[in-house]
Amino acid sequence: MAAGKGNIRLQFKYGIKNHLDEEHSEMLKSLKSLSTVAGSMGESAGKLLKALVAHVTEEEKTVVPLLSSIGDLVEGNADEMELSRLSLLGSALTETYAQFLKEHSDIERKAKSLLEIAGNTGNTMAASTIEGLQHHIFIEELFLYPFSILAAKYASLAVSENRRSR
Ligand SMILES: [Fe+2]
Ligand SMILES: [Fe+2]
Repeated sequence: MAAGKGNIRLQFKYGIKNHLDEEHSEMLKSLKSLSTVAGSMGESAGKLLKALVAHVTEEEKTVVPLLSSIGDLVEGNADEMELSRLSLLGSALTETYAQFLKEHSDIERKAKSLLEIAGNTGNTMAASTIEGLQHHIFIEELFLYPFSILAAKYASLAVSENRRSR
């Protein structure tokens, strides 16, 4: 690849992995707390929490590591082993991508019903948690999923190019 090791010297101020991990754990924490509220509100929050835990667990296996690699890829710091690992993660993500989008729709549906219940009770924590969740999904679909796919494609091209140039 043209951007070989050491050709580009950049520094990234923000770690995307930490940012995503933080958002995931904040959303899960708030939903956990809402799920302890008695009645339909707790029940609805519990359903949303269950769906989100399963979704986030899978995202953290593919999307998060691919996004975390972008700094190294841009700087040309990913070695061959790392490039192969990223390329494999990309194949795994290709298989689960449609499922992730379906899960987003399901999560948004569940969030909407929680919001309706919360509106009747005047619970502001539920409203702000759901606002954060909707924004999170929007940013994932607009930027983060495409970027993670791009990182995987770059890695897999780099693997093929390295093999060819041997
Ligand atoms: Fe997420
Ligand atoms: Fe997501």
